[in-house]
Order: sequence, then C-alpha cells, then structure tokens
Amino acid sequence: MNIAMIGAGYVGLVTGSCFAETGNDVVCMDIDEAKIEQLRQGQVPFYELGLEGLIQRNTREGRLSFSTDLAEAVRRAETIFIAVGTPQVSAGGADLTQVFAVAESIAGAMNGAKIVVTKSTVPVGTAARVREIIEARTEHPVAVVSNPEFLREGTAVEDFMKPDRVVLGGEDAASLELLSRLYEPFVRTEKPVIRTDSRSAEMSKYAANAILATKISFINETARLCEKEGADIEQVRRIVGLDHRIGPHFIYPGIGFGGSCLPKDIRAMIAMGGEELEMPLLRAVDRVNETQKGLLLEKVTEHFDGTLADRTLAVWGLAFKARTDDMREAPSIRVIDGLLDAGACVRAFDPEAMSEARKRYGDRIAYGDNNYKVADGADAVLVLTEWNEFRSPDFPRLKTLLRQPVLFDGRNLYDPAVMRRHGFTYYSIGRGRG
Ligand SMILES: NC(=O)c1ccc[n+]([C@@H]2O[C@H](COP(=O)([O-])OP(=O)(O)OC[C@H]3O[C@@H](n4cnc5c(N)ncnc54)[C@H](O)[C@@H]3O)[C@@H](O)[C@H]2O)c1
Repeated sequence: MNIAMIGAGYVGLVTGSCFAETGNDVVCMDIDEAKIEQLRQGQVPFYELGLEGLIQRNTREGRLSFSTDLAEAVRRAETIFIAVGTPQVSAGGADLTQVFAVAESIAGAMNGAKIVVTKSTVPVGTAARVREIIEARTEHPVAVVSNPEFLREGTAVEDFMKPDRVVLGGEDAASLELLSRLYEPFVRTEKPVIRTDSRSAEMSKYAANAILATKISFINETARLCEKEGADIEQVRRIVGLDHRIGPHFIYPGIGFGGSCLPKDIRAMIAMGGEELEMPLLRAVDRVNETQKGLLLEKVTEHFDGTLADRTLAVWGLAFKARTDDMREAPSIRVIDGLLDAGACVRAFDPEAMSEARKRYGDRIAYGDNNYKVADGADAVLVLTEWNEFRSPDFPRLKTLLRQPVLFDGRNLYDPAVMRRHGFTYYSIGRGRG
C-alpha cells in the first residue's frame, strides 16, 4: 500500500517505519525541515529504542522516504495518516489547529479517492469534522477512519509491532477492510482488530489514558495516606496488585505522571464534558497529580529547614519516564523549577534527556557525564526518573562523594533498610523516612 504519514513525531515515525517494515511504501512528511533533513541522513530526532535501525533499513531498501511536500505525499498515496500534535489549549481542551490545517491541505492536494486516517489523539467528533473539511474542498471521494494509537514512548516500536488491539472507527466498510489488512501482520498473535464507529474509537483512546492516570493518582494518594498512617505503600501495592481484578500495572507510587499524553488527555476529556458534565473524578486525578509533582520538593525543603539557597542538589533523571528523552510535562521540571526558585544550585544527569534539558534550562543548571559526577560535592541526590542504571548504585562510593549522605527517591527504587545500613538519610514515597 502507498501510505503518506503526515507528522513525523514519535507516533508518525514509529507508525510509518513499522508499516514500511511490513512491505508498504511510506512517505513520512513533516513541516519541520530540520527534522526531515536529519531523517534523510538516517538520524532519529529523538531517542526511541529500535527505531533508528528500522528507519535506516527501510530507507536503504527503498520503502521509506521523508518529505516536506505534503501535496506530493498525498498525491502518490492511497491512504493518508494524520499524526500531528494535538497539544493542550490554555482552557484545557485539545488544540486541533494542526489536524484541521492538515485536513485542508490534504483536500487541496487530492487527485483521486483517498482514505484519511486520524492517528492523533483527538476529541470525539474530530473524524467527522475532518471529513466535512475535506468534502467541502474537493470533489474526490474521501473516507475518514479513526485509528487511535496506544503505543508507549520507550517501547513504541515493540508496542506498535505487537499491539493489544487495533481500533478502526468509521462507516465505510471498504476502507475498514483495507486498513484491517494493513494491520494484519501486527495481529498474528490473535489480538483483535476492533471495528467500531469513529466516535467510540476516539473516546476509547481517552478512556484508556484516563484509567491509567486514575490508577497512578489513586496509588499516589494512597501513598500519602500510608505515610501519614505508618504503612508501607510498597507492601500495599504488592498485595493489591496480586488481586487479578486489579493487576500489578500502573500502581507504582512516584512523583506523578507526565509526558505528552496523560496530562493533556485527561484535561481534554474534562473539556469534552463541557458545561453539562463536570467530570469530578478526572478533575481530582489531575489535582492529585499536580500535588504529587510538588511532593519531593516539600520533602527537600523540610529536610534543609526551609532554606535551599546555596545548597547543591544532584538530580538523577530528567525524562518523564525511563527509556525516553521526552521531558514534556515531566515531574522533573516542577522539581527543578522549585529548586531554582528557592536559590539552590542544580546539577543534573539523564542517560538520554540531556539535550532536551539543555534546550529548556541552558546554563541555569549544570550537567554531568554520569550520576556520580553530579553527586560529587552535592548536599543530596534526588532520583526523579526510574532509569535502570540508577537501580543499583555503588552506595559507599556515593556516600564519599556527597557532602551529606541524603537521598530523596521519587521512584521508590531502593530498600529503606539497605539505605539505613549504608548510613543514608533516605526519603521515598509512601514509606516514611528510611
Ligand atoms: N507520544 C506518544 O506516546 C503518543 C502515543 C499515542 C498517541 N499520541 C498522540 O499522537 C499525536 C502525535 O503525538 P507525537 O508525540 O508523535 O507528537 P510530536 O510532537 O512528536 O510530533 C508531531 C509532528 O507533527 C508535525 N507537524 C505539525 N504540524 C504539521 C503539519 N501541518 N504538517 C506536517 N507535519 C506537522 C510536527 O512538526 C511534529 O514533528 C498526538 O495527538 C498525541 O496525543 C502520542
């Protein structure tokens, strides 16, 4: 199949290269010329495990190419995916400017019947709106299918290659059939391709993210209660996670969820409720999360008796989660901003997100080549991302580097008893003080 992927970000690039990998002819198009140039050189503009090899091989074998020319990409494709950003507007809803601009451009370039697929996360009714926009501008027939994406940054290629399900929402049976065939190589393990109406498809993506966000805020609220009552959230998490009705996923306490999806998607869902539906549960999920992002900063401030001026804090981890360089809405931003506002010096290390951090903070913070370098001479370490390389540090070495052996663990990576044995003052989430 000839495919045009409009938007070469995390979703567009992964989707485009996975479709190329299964033998399709794919053009990834983006308005960001620097990004397209980089991709033509075989470089991926962000960190995503396995993506670079996939892009290089499929480019070399002629199935994948990159372009800034939307009209050309549309003309040679039978199926066009829209995978542009849908960021949050200030009122909380999804900003559909990019999606609608692309729909208009597609209409202007059409040279025959096309299938347009909305891959971006969009509010209910967007597929219908995209169809109206296109039909108002062209005589050529168009079918619009909603195909929400459930991949996770960090495991995006694997998630796309082996999805739990594929969702296709639309009314045109022929285009649903064609897209089902496109996805066939990815669902050979009997995972379902669910055909539904476009409104339900659109809602399913928001509902999935809202449940995940709710689980995280729930466990974080429970962690605060554990701290108050002298219980250990890690014990509680294990016990409740063994209940098959609950399951072990997404109930890890921490410093709140971030990233480009969960925060904006729950707010978009609240905005969908409008004046008719208050959506009290999701408002609470968002509020709990915002509070949680400030929790570690409260602990640091309290430990240093309210004054952080002239303190040097070593930050381990900047990305919103491990295995990505994405810092969008990362809890680390709230923590670092708070530390800087309080006059502290911040030294940071992240295995992948250093250049993202430099874009944001420039020389307002210092950077180190590894986690021990930033700890050298610091007053404490703050662990903000659950990178594997932070899981088993050399504690005796760390102790000799720090001015005082103090560690604030925003991801509960360590055992309080072990930390005590190593002589650390150890703070974590929902387990009291170690
Ligand atoms: N990142 C994720 O983990 C994830 C997962 C599932 C769904 N989504 C959804 O997928 C969508 C894309 O997310 P992303 O993380 O890939 O975003 P991104 O910001 O990484 O990429 C979006 C790309 O679209 C390009 N773009 C903007 N306007 C354009 C235009 N008019 N023509 C061509 N290109 C244009 C941008 O330059 C950018 O490269 C969003 O709706 C998001 O909510 C994201």
